[in-house]
Amino acid sequence: MSAYPSPQAYWGAFWPTAGEDTAAAPPAERIHWTQYPHHGPGAEFLGRPRTALEIGAATCVAGFALARTSVKVTCVDFSSHQMERARRWWGSEPDLTLVEADVLDYLATTTTRWDCIFSNWGAAFFTDPDVLLPLVLPRLTPGGLFAFSSVEPLAPCYGPQITYGNGYRGPRLAIVRWMLSNEQWTAALARHGFRRIDVHTLPGPEEGFVGTTTGRAYAP
Ligand SMILES: C[S@@+](CC[C@H](N)C(=O)[O-])C[C@H]1O[C@@H](n2cnc3c(N)ncnc32)[C@H](O)[C@@H]1O
Repeated sequence: MSAYPSPQAYWGAFWPTAGEDTAAAPPAERIHWTQYPHHGPGAEFLGRPRTALEIGAATCVAGFALARTSVKVTCVDFSSHQMERARRWWGSEPDLTLVEADVLDYLATTTTRWDCIFSNWGAAFFTDPDVLLPLVLPRLTPGGLFAFSSVEPLAPCYGPQITYGNGYRGPRLAIVRWMLSNEQWTAALARHGFRRIDVHTLPGPEEGFVGTTTGRAYAP
């Protein structure tokens, strides 16, 4: 197996190595928040922002779909491969800015504020919320929205879940998924000053299917 030297390299292989990579851009007719096509909300989940930041954007397909509705969108991801491909696919969209950076560094150093910051199975799924959320809040305009989605955690193991990115026989590489319960997400958002918090589980499309954690919370 190939060994990834870093999380950035690991994420560079997300999607291409699943045998689904093509030279063509993926369809961007709507934003999908769940793992099931055409299931759950679309862009309306974000309200009507004038500006938005997508954190951990990978393909940047959600950011591009939003930018096409005249929202000024910035997408950030620390994977060179993902951002190179996003530039190839979406580089000519005037309302979309593509930034290769660690979201934590980017949020800590930028002076920009956005009406909306969102993570579509992105950085909020893979970052300690006690580190991420204090960086997100000051970068929102007053009343601005933080929105996210990720997979529903499987009871009873709520909290950070570590995967060996290179398997058990390769170089050590920790990939952490923050599989928080709705109550844990709600408490973290409240702890870091967010208001009007709504975190819930959107059921899968059929009885017994894996659901999606979706969350929205606002800056004061
Ligand atoms: C599951 S993918 C996101 C999928 C995306 N919504 C899409 O449709 O293509 C997670 C992404 O988060 C990015 N990511 C994780 N932690 C990050 C961080 N600290 N800074 C920047 N990007 C990060 C990874 O590089 C990866 O591309």
